[in-house]
Amino acid sequence: MKTLMGLSLAGVALLPLSVWAASTEYQDIERGRYISVLGDCAACHTADDSQPFSGGVALETPFGTLLAPNITPDPDTGLGHWRYEDFKAAMTEGIGKGGYHLYPAMPYPSYTLMPEKDIHDLWSYLQTVTPVENDVEANQLPFPFSIRQVMMGWNWLNFDEKTFEPDPEQSDEINRGAYLVESLGHCGTCHTPRNFMGGEGGDKFAGATIEGWYAPNITPNAHVGIGGWSEDELVEYLQTGGNRFDFASGPMADEVHHSSQHWTDDDLYAVARYLLSGAGLESDDWDREPPEPLSEDNAQVRAGSHIYFDRCSGCHTSDGGGEYGIFPQLASNPVVNGDNTSSLIRVVLAGSRPVATDAKPTAPAMPSFAWNLNDEEIASVLTFVRNSWGNAAAAVSPGDVADMREALAGE
Ligand code: HEC
Ligand code: HEC
Ligand code: HEC
Repeated sequence: MKTLMGLSLAGVALLPLSVWAASTEYQDIERGRYISVLGDCAACHTADDSQPFSGGVALETPFGTLLAPNITPDPDTGLGHWRYEDFKAAMTEGIGKGGYHLYPAMPYPSYTLMPEKDIHDLWSYLQTVTPVENDVEANQLPFPFSIRQVMMGWNWLNFDEKTFEPDPEQSDEINRGAYLVESLGHCGTCHTPRNFMGGEGGDKFAGATIEGWYAPNITPNAHVGIGGWSEDELVEYLQTGGNRFDFASGPMADEVHHSSQHWTDDDLYAVARYLLSGAGLESDDWDREPPEPLSEDNAQVRAGSHIYFDRCSGCHTSDGGGEYGIFPQLASNPVVNGDNTSSLIRVVLAGSRPVATDAKPTAPAMPSFAWNLNDEEIASVLTFVRNSWGNAAAAVSPGDVADMREALAGE
């Protein structure tokens, strides 16, 4: 993103601007650049950092693969012939120039909340990006999903076109956070479970699987959600890619890298205040009692405890407290307590190196145990971890470990 910022600013200074851009204030363009960062357009539309927004990133959807198109001002392969109205229809209605329906892998169901001024400034900025000739055929889906009209029915059932309305009962800060989370940040596209058609279903922010990763619960529930995190800890995670509980990996590492590490402190605190307040959620969606932990005499817990002290406590410490900034705390860790165990199993089998950010340039690594712990041992050690030091959660089955081992072998 550094280079991206450099390029775009150079673009403003050096390129002959289009008529549209010339009539627009520099502040609007700069504001639009920041909106593109908040909206994380680069995550999907920039495959090659030296050619920002020229498209080509492949997105796996439940229905097949889509390639994100070129949105530079190139006249033949980008948006060079689009007018502002065309762009606005894409962002708010999911309609491309000429009337075709976009697939919701483009998060227009979130961007539709953008107020006119933000869409306008974002468009002004995109006009100043270096045009790149790169022909991308977005639609790689198999029949019948390749037929764009299918989306008319999808939209009818899953999509409401509406602009963000601040809640007069809430502070300006919470309203700013709501807008960032619900619209530009499109956090729910990964963290809210999907219905069978790939629309966001109920259980908002309760956690969901995305491209083989688990995007955990980000409700204020203190056991399985982020309710035990302070605002500072949540901001630290979004800004630096890690805090004492967790480091971002997979799609969240991309989000931090391209997007949230570049957000202003005010915006990050607004997001933290909104998410931790539970505004925007029904309280019975997230306000649930934690379960009882499994007993120390449980066979898996007992076997797992030996493995833990042998293989894991050297880094994660014997009380599960970890080492701040180096080894995550496993005690009272929402991911450890979560219903979905796929990321826990994945990290023990495959190991993990978290994202490096400007604030935390080098990151420690978790070793892979695939070669020296079998499925039963991994299930036991995780069952122990999930039921120690205040944690409480269902046992992990060896079968789930075997399934993940197979999935990883196929990657
Ligand atoms: C999660 C991935 C993702 C993100 C984030 C994303 N897009 Fe897209 N976008 C897509 C995909 C995929 C398509 C193609 C959809 C289709 O053809 O049905 C698309 C299509 C578009 C189109 C229509 C282009 C055309 O030629 O039809 C525009 C304009 C666009 N995106 C702009 C943006 C902007 C601006 C942002 C940031 C605010 C953004 N997108 C963020 C995935 C994404
Ligand atoms: C492209 C998908 C995607 C988007 C968009 C996304 N996330 Fe995530 N998020 C994930 C995944 C996957 C993880 C798990 C990462 C890991 O296992 O290291 C995660 C992890 C997190 C965590 C850590 C939770 C924990 O208990 O450890 C927080 C907090 C979080 N995301 C907040 C957000 C917020 C706020 C937004 C919107 C600004 C957002 N995410 C947008 C996919 C996403
Ligand atoms: C050499 C040090 C080291 C050892 C030994 C080690 N870990 Fe880790 N572990 C890490 C690091 C570093 C991370 C963070 C990696 C990341 O987030 O990408 C981590 C992450 C994890 C996570 C994910 C935590 C979260 O919030 O997402 C779990 C669960 C975990 N380790 C369990 C174990 C278990 C079980 C063992 C023993 C079988 C073990 N670790 C051994 C260093 C270690």
